[in-house]
Amino acid sequence: TAHGVEFSQQLSETPKSAEERAAILANPGFGDYFTDNTVIVDYSVDTEGKGGWHSARVEAYGPISLDPSAAVLHYGQEIFEGLKAYRHADGSVWTFRPEANAARLNKSARRLALPELPEEYFLGAIRELVQADKEWVPSGDGEALYLRPFMIATEAFLGVRAAREVSFRVIASPAGNYFGGELKPVSIWISREYARAGRGGTGAAKCGGNYAASLIAQMEAEENGCKQVLFLDHFNDDAVEELGGMNVFFVMKDGSLVTPALTGTILEGVTRSSVIQVAKDMGREVSERKITLAEWRDGVASGEIAEVFACGTAAVITPIGVLKDKTEFIGSEDAKAGETTMAIREQLLGIQTGTVEDTHGWLTRL
Ligand code: COI
Repeated sequence: TAHGVEFSQQLSETPKSAEERAAILANPGFGDYFTDNTVIVDYSVDTEGKGGWHSARVEAYGPISLDPSAAVLHYGQEIFEGLKAYRHADGSVWTFRPEANAARLNKSARRLALPELPEEYFLGAIRELVQADKEWVPSGDGEALYLRPFMIATEAFLGVRAAREVSFRVIASPAGNYFGGELKPVSIWISREYARAGRGGTGAAKCGGNYAASLIAQMEAEENGCKQVLFLDHFNDDAVEELGGMNVFFVMKDGSLVTPALTGTILEGVTRSSVIQVAKDMGREVSERKITLAEWRDGVASGEIAEVFACGTAAVITPIGVLKDKTEFIGSEDAKAGETTMAIREQLLGIQTGTVEDTHGWLTRL
């Protein structure tokens, strides 16, 4: 095949009907529905201790059979990715910077002592799944097929060491707005008690454990009427890190952008890096630096900070209206989406959906 890896095909014999699919695509939400097929590549270590990927296949989407002692179920040896497939006006389907996701997966794999996956397997798996489930790629405004590659330690063994049997899989889910309904500014809750990462930890890796650790803070946010939680570095002047599942940007009064520098404790978002490039292309200055909660508070009060937004593959670009906790209230309940935020969102979505020229070669046709 074009990507150099053969995937055997054992497609679902019970795909959803065109009517069922249309009903789902009419209102996809986020992460609730899955396509008919999945892609799997397994890894094992032979008796000589040599590891290799094998048994690449496309098969029907369905439950995974795992030994109850599988390492992933006990020690959380798991990593994942998120990227999207977009339908263009001519019906063709494209994905965005998949090489960046392949590279990040391998960076996460190294941190979690999982085997690296050669890029051609990653790209091949994406292509095979989207080809099998092409009808599932939505075409509505802000909609796409969300692709979720993940890698799990399947070896049945309770000793604490890197597993010798691993499975890489990709599932796909048609997606609209991550926050549901129309795009509007979201409120964010400040996590005072919980951190998501520490120096030397797994903060920069995209591993399930980071998200498990964020849930208690996310629940606190929701109990207080907020959509996401903000994590700070409590040992570094309350420096802004990231939200539960997305990075954060500030638009300053002078039109420049600021986003927290990559310190090893925050997720190195593909959308984050794309926003930096798109903003530069639009003639804006972007600085990656430390920005504290105090600067956020004072900057909004003085007008130095004009807009704040969250970004991620799932979240795309979502304006932030309010940041609060029991003692703080920064921003305004009736904030409108900022102009610069929306201009960057339009530009990025335009590249992804084929209405704006892709000058960086970010798109791959599937
Ligand atoms: C993504 O944006 O793709 C993510 O992985 C975030 C996740 C919390 C939905």
